[in-house]
Amino acid sequence: MNKLALYCRAGFEKEVAGEITEKAAERGVFGFASVKENSGYVIFECYQTGEADRLAKELKLSQLIFVRQMLVVGDLLQELPETDRISPILDCYQALNPKNAGEVVVDTPDTNEAKELSLFCRKFTVPLRNALKAKGWLKPQWIATKDSAKQGITLHILFIGSGKCYVGYAYNHNRSPFLMGIPRLKFPSDAPSRSTLKLEEAILSFIPTVEAPRRLNENMKGVDLGACPGGWTYQLVKRGLFVYAVDHGKMAASLHDTGRIEHCPEDGFKFQPPKRTTIDWLVCDMVEQPMRISKLMAKWLTNGWCKETIFNLKLPMKKRYQEVKLCLDYLAETLQKQGLTFHIQAKHLYHDREEITVHIQLK
Ligand SMILES: C[S@@+](CC[C@H](N)C(=O)[O-])C[C@H]1O[C@@H](n2cnc3c(N)ncnc32)[C@H](O)[C@@H]1O
Repeated sequence: MNKLALYCRAGFEKEVAGEITEKAAERGVFGFASVKENSGYVIFECYQTGEADRLAKELKLSQLIFVRQMLVVGDLLQELPETDRISPILDCYQALNPKNAGEVVVDTPDTNEAKELSLFCRKFTVPLRNALKAKGWLKPQWIATKDSAKQGITLHILFIGSGKCYVGYAYNHNRSPFLMGIPRLKFPSDAPSRSTLKLEEAILSFIPTVEAPRRLNENMKGVDLGACPGGWTYQLVKRGLFVYAVDHGKMAASLHDTGRIEHCPEDGFKFQPPKRTTIDWLVCDMVEQPMRISKLMAKWLTNGWCKETIFNLKLPMKKRYQEVKLCLDYLAETLQKQGLTFHIQAKHLYHDREEITVHIQLK
């Protein structure tokens, strides 16, 4: 098993290929990325034995922008016999002889065709799990949800078509806990817009659950640039913040009713925090050129106008990965020049379409 299977939104395979090739090379790992457009995954084959395993262990999934899930896999299994799909899969694990695996996950890439296999995957998991247990390759003490199992692995089967799958595993400390790498969020019925899920997913992805009450609470103030109709503001208000909602549009009445917002019908590029007011959070979902947004975010952070920010970079252009790198490099250089220490993360979230979400926290 010397390949990585990297899951992504269909249509973003080239971005994944560019990103994995570059990040692997930074670690002295070289390989070849196979891209099938709109397949929802990329296979990166490493030239040296053992390198896929090293990448899966060391290359943090949270630092890969366009990747939702990362597995170590072997060659594609094709034409699995309908009467016995399990034996060829067990054969693949024979050499690995897993001793620290607790669970097996069977899923597909996020495409309509592959998702037709979802029901099959769910049903197939049960006999496969039993067969793996019988071989002694799944042990309950290594189930990923337990803290003690963080050093273990989870076995993964990725079905890309009927009778076609990749067999592999992922490290528990470096895998998405969600099926297909997709968190399932429920749309809150009282939220003013569906984009509320983007900020909710961003908060869940970027802020560890244990830290969330300290990092977002009723003693804090936020600014939402491009706030209307209020899906993002809703998420901040829900966590107790008072929000200055900046937009020429109309905010949902339900948000006014909370008494936790002030609507500022102004230009988000000119708006400044009210005098003698500490802004803890800046969020921004304005549809604008990514570099223009990056410069605005850098201005807020270097002026000390906010401590933490989540914003979107819209990517309608062809060379999306290059554009993202340009923006992230600009932000990092600008903050460093000002002597600021910070933590930056960027992710193509499930609820993001032609855009990515960035989080910066000043330390
Ligand atoms: C994608 S929508 C924001 C949706 C919002 N995050 C939500 O969850 O409901 C973009 C918003 O940015 C606003 N906008 C665009 N340019 C702006 C500017 N220069 N200043 C203020 N608002 C702007 C638009 O009026 C629009 O309401």
